[in-house]
Amino acid sequence: MHSSVLRFNALVTFAVAILALICALASFSDYFNNPSPTADVKVLSINWFHKQPNGNEEVRITLNISADLRSLFTWNTKQVFGFVAAEYETPQNALNQVSLWDIIIPSKEDAKFLVQITNKYRFIDQGSNLRSKEFNLTLHWHVMPKVGKMWADKIVMTGYRLPDRYR
Ligand SMILES: *[C@@H]1O[C@H](CO)[C@@H](O)[C@H](O)[C@H]1NC(C)=O
Ligand SMILES: *[C@@H]1O[C@H](CO)[C@@H](O)[C@H](O)[C@H]1NC(C)=O
Repeated sequence: MHSSVLRFNALVTFAVAILALICALASFSDYFNNPSPTADVKVLSINWFHKQPNGNEEVRITLNISADLRSLFTWNTKQVFGFVAAEYETPQNALNQVSLWDIIIPSKEDAKFLVQITNKYRFIDQGSNLRSKEFNLTLHWHVMPKVGKMWADKIVMTGYRLPDRYR
């Protein structure tokens, strides 16, 4: 009796140790996966651009988003969260980041996509900074592994500019 409890304990300890080792190997192997995602985001149209009664500006924009994030997926990947943000500088802030669209990618098969969409989240500036404003469109991603640490990266597409007048 006594010795079988001991043996059971030893077995559990051994199993836990193996599990810990597998988890460590899983996140370690991710470390060596060198992903090469690609993305391209283009502005198809500025649908409207105006000043709200409260003085803030709002833009409605249609984007063509294509991406191939399949290389982010390993056997240790649970899902990938992606979002496209407009990023620009103002006198008040070095970085203004407005999320325009997002996607949850559950599997490698869904990680290559091409969508034409108008912004899902409102593109509002807390002020009147947007006329002729240069901005970047950045695809950000957060990789959620089954075990180990979440990690994030991005692809920045530069050189966009908003119109110089409201429309
Ligand atoms: C959207 O982008 C893809 C990939 O760059 C391109 O093949 C396609 O023609 C674009 N669609 C439009 C409507 O511009
Ligand atoms: C756009 O991205 C480039 C490269 O990362 C950066 O140097 C630049 O400051 C960014 N521009 C804006 C307006 O945020």
